[in-house]
Amino acid sequence: MRIAPSILSADFARLGEEVQAVEAAGADWIHVDVMDGHFVPNLTIGPPVVAALRRVTERTLDVHLMIEKPERYIDAFAEAGADVITVHAEACTHLHRTLQHIRSLGKLAGVSLNPHTPEDVLRYVFEHLDLVLVMTVNPGFGGQAFIDKLVPKVEAVHWMIEASRKDIRLEVDGGIRPGTAGRVVEAGADVLVAGSAIFGTDDYAKAIKELREDAP
Ligand code: DX5
Ligand code: ZN
Repeated sequence: MRIAPSILSADFARLGEEVQAVEAAGADWIHVDVMDGHFVPNLTIGPPVVAALRRVTERTLDVHLMIEKPERYIDAFAEAGADVITVHAEACTHLHRTLQHIRSLGKLAGVSLNPHTPEDVLRYVFEHLDLVLVMTVNPGFGGQAFIDKLVPKVEAVHWMIEASRKDIRLEVDGGIRPGTAGRVVEAGADVLVAGSAIFGTDDYAKAIKELREDAP
């Protein structure tokens, strides 16, 4: 099980130090939330910040694109040093082509699903996938409440991955903290994104340990 702290809840004025602090505290991946003010109401960061983070960490940079027409920015994020590039199924008309493009750049290709999006949308792109990101809040903000009804969706995606016999990570994002972490891991998740549950505390190592201990 991997823990991917979301820098959305970090102190942006000290971003490099924050990333190094969660790395020292046991983070496996660094989750980077990119928002465009269209697909989601919030605005965050772009490729220059990813490039700056690339210089301070060797951990996997897990870039979650909450932007319309993400295909316009795949090359820029790949060049900036992203390792995983995840696009939203709802934001991407030519999902099949976009996933192939991400892989052609030597990056891991992910698809994220909003709470209301059925997992069936994955069916015809499975062979081009390295990761599925199930959102357990509506994307846009940190610190929101986990949507309980989505645990069966995590489980459904888990069984789709098992049936495919492919090496595909199952990541869950939104409202992950001790209590919900265990529930999604039990449902099959193997990468947990957590923003406020880590950066909202003053002991990152303790917060990460508590997430791991919650997993069955
Ligand atoms: C939400 C982002 C998340 C966010 C999670 O749109 O995709 O990665 O940072 O924050 P928490 O863990 O606080 O719910
Ligand atoms: Zn995210």
